[in-house]
Amino acid sequence: MKKLWGGRFQKTPEKWVDEFGASIHFDKTLVKEDILGSLAHLAMLRKCEILSKEEAERIKQGLESLLQKAKKNELVFSIDHEDIHLNLEKMLIDEIGPIGGKLHTARSRNDQVATDMHLYLKHHTEHIIELITAFQNTLVEKAEHHIETILPGYTHLQRAQPISFAHHLLAYFWMMERDKQRYSDALKRINQSPLGCGALAGTTFPIDRQYSAKQLGFDSIYENSLDGVSDRDFILEFLSVSSILMMHLSRFSEEIILWCSQEFKFVELDDTYATGSSMMPQKKNPDMAELVRGKTGRVYGSLMGLLTIMKGLPLAYNKDLQEDKEGMFDTVKTVQGCLEIFTGMISTMTVNSNEMKKATQHDFSNATELADYLAKKGMPFREAHEVVGKLVYTCIEKGIFLSDLPLEEYKKMSKQFAEDVYIVLDPKHAVEKRMSEGGTGFKKVTEALQNAKQHLNNF
Ligand code: ARG
Repeated sequence: MKKLWGGRFQKTPEKWVDEFGASIHFDKTLVKEDILGSLAHLAMLRKCEILSKEEAERIKQGLESLLQKAKKNELVFSIDHEDIHLNLEKMLIDEIGPIGGKLHTARSRNDQVATDMHLYLKHHTEHIIELITAFQNTLVEKAEHHIETILPGYTHLQRAQPISFAHHLLAYFWMMERDKQRYSDALKRINQSPLGCGALAGTTFPIDRQYSAKQLGFDSIYENSLDGVSDRDFILEFLSVSSILMMHLSRFSEEIILWCSQEFKFVELDDTYATGSSMMPQKKNPDMAELVRGKTGRVYGSLMGLLTIMKGLPLAYNKDLQEDKEGMFDTVKTVQGCLEIFTGMISTMTVNSNEMKKATQHDFSNATELADYLAKKGMPFREAHEVVGKLVYTCIEKGIFLSDLPLEEYKKMSKQFAEDVYIVLDPKHAVEKRMSEGGTGFKKVTEALQNAKQHLNNF
């Protein structure tokens, strides 16, 4: 098959070599972006009088017809034309005749592909930001019902201090908020036009790059043509931000998986977000959370892949860059899917407040309260820590908890202990009193919820 670039060649590659070099089976994802990029380029060529009115009109009709067909999934791509750009160029020429070949005036596939990728990522990053907001709304709604639901907070996965469940959920709200800020910031770099950089050095035609950039809704243009066609840092940024987001979702997944277990029983997932076992009839598995945790690996993999692809490339374009796409497409799909799943899974999840509460009553997560109690009565905190440590040890030996210990036992350890000690041992009291900024006290959490909602409204 004669190539569109075949002028200086005597022979054509064998089919299997063509297959190795082709990207059409994955870059066809960019079909709409490619046509929109072409329409903007065309408008610019006309505005700068590089093409006549009639030529531009015919090419425009051809491109619009291709766009309609693309929307209806009617275009048939071929490996013979390597990638999305050459496939579409061939289709355009087939549709309107050799005049279609004028579209490629003053551009190269190098600035064309970079433009497509910027357009694609701009659109999808904006969508991801919307999906994060939807997830944050769900977190806030859930948290509103659980301000006074108490569960143990953990460090080292050991029960540490009781906290409000709303406070726990809001921790993820703020992680998502920072993720959203990172995507918004990355958008500034995504929102730049490489169109008109040509193959690497610009063009001799009197083009207007600002004009085509504006047509495509970009904020600015790349200042340097070599940079514009050959860097992929905008994708690396997207993959980095996505890796951090996935890390957050993966940690949350891990907690959900633990909470669903019979050992915790803190939550129950809705049947629609769980699966059964083909062998063990009693099983209800948190597959969706496990999958989100697992899919985090492929997003990290795409980031590492692209960093490695880029590290040895001399300026400007190299065919290695064709490898930038699949990881990016996969990450877009993965991140969008994971956010949608999480939003549904959290909003339909049942919270077992009683089990959470029970867990705070039958443990020692109120020990800090006791140490603070003595410290507030003047004992140096280090000493108070020692006294309470001994009391905990006594309880463990007797197989009881701090609230079961009679007052005489307390008094034996310190005269400072009085009847009011049992009040501070109540986990609810322990949560209520943590009124420091950013703390878990119920009133603080209520304020934090208002603040979170404000943030959602302002974004
Ligand atoms: N399919 C190529 C890619 O994805 C398009 C650019 C090809 N440019 C070239 N000079 N061979 O990177």
